[in-house]
Amino acid sequence: MIILGIETSCDETAAAVIEGKNKKIKVLSSIVSSQINIHKKYGGVVPEVAAREHVLQILPVINEAFKKANIKREEVSIKIKAIAVTAGPGLITSLQVGVETAKVLSYVWKIPAIAINHIEGHIYANFIHKFPISPCFAKRGGAGNFQFPIIILTVSGGHTMLVLMTNHGEYKTIGETRDDAAGEALDKAANLLGLDYPGGPAIAAQTEKFIKQHSKISNFQTNFKFSPPWQDPDDNKMHKKVVGQISKIKLPRPMINSANFDFSFSGLKTALLYKLKKDKEWQKQIPEYAIEFQQAIIDVLISKTIKAAKKFEAKTTMLTGGVSANHELRKQITEAMKTKMPNSEFLIPDLKYTTDNAAMVATAGYFKARKKDFTPWQKLKADCNLEL
Ligand code: KG4
Ligand code: ZN
Repeated sequence: MIILGIETSCDETAAAVIEGKNKKIKVLSSIVSSQINIHKKYGGVVPEVAAREHVLQILPVINEAFKKANIKREEVSIKIKAIAVTAGPGLITSLQVGVETAKVLSYVWKIPAIAINHIEGHIYANFIHKFPISPCFAKRGGAGNFQFPIIILTVSGGHTMLVLMTNHGEYKTIGETRDDAAGEALDKAANLLGLDYPGGPAIAAQTEKFIKQHSKISNFQTNFKFSPPWQDPDDNKMHKKVVGQISKIKLPRPMINSANFDFSFSGLKTALLYKLKKDKEWQKQIPEYAIEFQQAIIDVLISKTIKAAKKFEAKTTMLTGGVSANHELRKQITEAMKTKMPNSEFLIPDLKYTTDNAAMVATAGYFKARKKDFTPWQKLKADCNLEL
């Protein structure tokens, strides 16, 4: 079954074509037109600017997705079995561009539409997995046969949530942030440290610079496209040594011991602000501040995820969302899961499906299409507060 996915919830205009067969997903194309360079100068996403840009980009991006997938325009209405689109949550004016486009295409091509929750999309990024991370992955015969219950940590610019998934399409939010999302906190901290937007990758770059400078291992990998560093024992040893050296700057780990699965990151940002105000020479220690801030977030995320996976006896545990692109988070949570939850399969999306993309939306659409969970175009509606 071939599905078209459309995603415009924030500042990426994305379209993808995937083919699902027996719950296995093949991505035929995944096009993302990012607006990062446009919003950079404002230090964050400007909704009006984002929506205008989506309007300009949406059709060329869809056209490119079909081209890459080798689907001719005249073949679309025969080959494409459903159009999956992010209906929310997100910026309302951005969402509307994707939703209205999907509506028109569904009407004109007579292809059923499927409304996807953006968080659900991020969750399904894990169902596209290609390379096996844990041995049980191979035992199951590769992707597709995921064992429930699944605990998912979703960390992005807009959300930090722990979700219990008991079956396809069945979710329960067991914890979420009470204020800032993890990605939002990283973006704000980067701003305080005079770093670029988006802050997550900027802070990660500072962290990696610091580790590299303090490491005697010359071939430390900041790019793990070909060889995942969490499988590299030298890298892990070196990491522990370097982080251990950073004892001067200490930030709190908010809510790490709270008796629930909620998060709070806005106080962490304030703690950083006070530290910077007191330190007249903070500019000389930007990487040190960056690494401690990032580590504080990572510690809380890992601790709560493991607690949740244990409590709900998760057969599978997943990490997803834009912040899951973070090298240190990927590495440290994989290590922690291996030692503390060895019987729960642990999955992280391929790097290219961590930040917003439409392949994850199309994949979520495929699993809904299997159940004929379609939305008539007349009922398709953008909802900025859509709940999971
Ligand atoms: O999922 P996403 O693309 O958009 C939302 O749904 O919000 O996530 C964007 C967030 C931003 O806050 C960005 O700073 C963060 O993901 N991010 C990262 C990294 N790459 C993106 N955070 C930490 N490390 C990264 N490498
Ligand atoms: Zn997202």
